[in-house]
Amino acid sequence: MTILVTGGAGFIGSNFIFYMLEKHPDYRIVCLDKLTYAGNLSTLAPVMDKPNFRFVKADICDREAVNRLFQEERPDMVVNFAAESHVDRSIDDPGVFLQTNIIGTATLMDACRKFGVQRFHQVSTDEVYGDLPLDRPDLFFTEQTPIHTSSPYSSSKAAADLLVLAYYRTYGLPVTVSRCSNNYGPYHFPEKLIPLMIANALNDKPLPVYGEGLNVRDWLYVEDHCKAIDLVLHRGRVGQVYNIGGHNEMRNIDIVKMICKVLGKPESLIVYVTDRKGHDLRYAIDPTKIHDELGWLPETKFSDGIQKTIQWYLEHRDWWETIISGEYQNYYEKMYGNR
Ligand code: NAD
Ligand code: DAU
Repeated sequence: MTILVTGGAGFIGSNFIFYMLEKHPDYRIVCLDKLTYAGNLSTLAPVMDKPNFRFVKADICDREAVNRLFQEERPDMVVNFAAESHVDRSIDDPGVFLQTNIIGTATLMDACRKFGVQRFHQVSTDEVYGDLPLDRPDLFFTEQTPIHTSSPYSSSKAAADLLVLAYYRTYGLPVTVSRCSNNYGPYHFPEKLIPLMIANALNDKPLPVYGEGLNVRDWLYVEDHCKAIDLVLHRGRVGQVYNIGGHNEMRNIDIVKMICKVLGKPESLIVYVTDRKGHDLRYAIDPTKIHDELGWLPETKFSDGIQKTIQWYLEHRDWWETIISGEYQNYYEKMYGNR
């Protein structure tokens, strides 16, 4: 079995590669990644020398490079993590989101049609459903919830989902789609809420909370997401969408305060800054379908997962300090300088 993993030098993709190489030592994993600002080859160092692992630097939008790789590797399955993934960047400059997230997905699927695969799996997001009101805790996203996006990022992911389902109906491409809630864990790029707050707190820098910090996200430890994708690949029904999430809703402000507490830092570091444009209020996944069909349930409690995550950032300062010492400084100044 050869699995092509795109975007495997990023946060979830790298965790997925580690998980799959451990769980299925007889599989060959080929990682295709453009190494954008979010991709980090050093993350994959522990597996680089494995005989059943190959890394290829390429853009999923580059039809020639993609076809060449398919010709060489003839993957049985493709798992598409490659994407521009940060909402704030999409608000600042949508173009690359449309290119990578939509055109890139279509380019990969065209190669799948040309060479034939057992499965094309699209890693999507709960953000395609838009948001839920804060005062209706009884409401959740199911797979039937209409697509209703807010940001250029979520719109580009929704467009990709529709294309994936269209390739299934029109061409019979054997696809699956998973829509997951917010992940956290090791190798999370420090532009996202949890790693940004950990890194800033450790450096005694201000902790910028958007608006009043009351927005709610449904957090899932990254390894639980990887396990769910593995199940969908092997046992999921072709043409189906599976929601992934673990009923773990938290307000942003409570997460930031929890990080301060664990690190022994004062809450006076918290600053309330101008809200994100179009800021989604609440995400909450109903995971009944993946539980009933595939037996998936999240295994890591948030209180354990956040401890493990904070510990990882304490033990891997080199990894994130290298990131925040480079181009990230310009990004940070632009995003937060006058906020
Ligand atoms: P990330 O930004 O950490 O990593 C993205 C990876 O894709 C990077 O390694 C980057 O170099 C690569 N990439 C970007 N453009 C590329 C291109 N044109 N060609 C090849 N590679 C390219 O993202 P992440 O947080 O790991 O998210 C992975 C996937 O999961 C995305 O599709 C995202 O939409 C989805 N998702 C993320 C979350 C979350 O909480 N992070 C939740 C649900 C779904
Ligand atoms: O729900 C899944 C999505 O989760 C994925 O599809 C996206 O790729 C991923 O980035 C994530 O999107 P969010 O926008 O929810 O994540 P982010 O970490 O950017 O923000 C989480 C919440 O924290 C959100 O309400 C905005 C807020 N926030 C974020 C940052 C970076 C702050 O208050 N301050 C910050 O500095």
